[in-house]
Amino acid sequence: MSTPRYDFTNKTALITGATGGIGREICRLFADFGANLVMLDLDPGPLAALATALGAPGRVATLAGNASAQWTIDEALSMAAARFGAVDVLVPVAGIYPESPVIETSNELWRQVMDINLDGTFRLLRSAAPLMNDGGAIVTFASVAGHRGSKNHAHYAASKAGVIALTRSLAHELGHRNIRVNAVSPGTISTPMVQALVAERGDSMLSGTPLHRFGRAEEVAQAAVFLASEGASFINGETLHVNGGLFMAG
Ligand SMILES: NC(=O)c1ccc[n+]([C@@H]2O[C@H](COP(=O)([O-])OP(=O)(O)OC[C@H]3O[C@@H](n4cnc5c(N)ncnc54)[C@H](O)[C@@H]3O)[C@@H](O)[C@H]2O)c1
Repeated sequence: MSTPRYDFTNKTALITGATGGIGREICRLFADFGANLVMLDLDPGPLAALATALGAPGRVATLAGNASAQWTIDEALSMAAARFGAVDVLVPVAGIYPESPVIETSNELWRQVMDINLDGTFRLLRSAAPLMNDGGAIVTFASVAGHRGSKNHAHYAASKAGVIALTRSLAHELGHRNIRVNAVSPGTISTPMVQALVAERGDSMLSGTPLHRFGRAEEVAQAAVFLASEGASFINGETLHVNGGLFMAG
């Protein structure tokens, strides 16, 4: 796949869920385009391996921790300030997708999904926005589930619908600083997150997808990096669908 080139030299991007299927492709693209990176995920081992693989010594900082915890967010922002000066691009990718029908979903599971997918995104945006350079960009992570709902994943769908509303609302609030806030909304992308779902319902999902295949993580990363780039300089409060036609927003 040919890759359009963007210049993020001297820009700093903070990415959560950095070592996941999609997150690592986003980190790879930003690193290729010259950005400094602050990468946050749960486990230090995969973070260290990814940092090495990116081959951009001096431009990568890592932090292992819970991306929805305020103290981790504060630490990541302090790290960005100390290492690189400030944050220009924020991409909260971290998310979870447990399966549970509504009538079997406990309060604890509902809260856990909300805490990571929605509250964590909110806390990061709230804390980072005052510290971001004007002219920066925020790219949040929604899902086709946030538009159409998702059988056995109501908590997840509700959290992602919340991310879309949060994204649009913040776009109103940060426009005066020329900080754009957009969402990427993936369909079914081949990553560890949806392995079980694809094994169980893959065929029926493909029959509803005009391109008749699942997406690749790098295809979602391209969309996210585009939204963060100068190429998207007048795109704000938008949701970019990356789903092969599985869902077409009206
Ligand atoms: N894969 C898909 O089909 C798909 C579809 C729609 C939306 N999405 C969204 O895209 C994003 C990335 O998904 P993915 O497919 O790469 O999933 P993934 O499971 O491969 O990666 C998710 C990453 O988030 C990290 N993470 C989870 N909870 C965390 C926490 N509390 N703190 C820090 N890190 C945490 C995980 O360790 C993992 O590295 C998610 O927000 C997901 O909801 C994915």
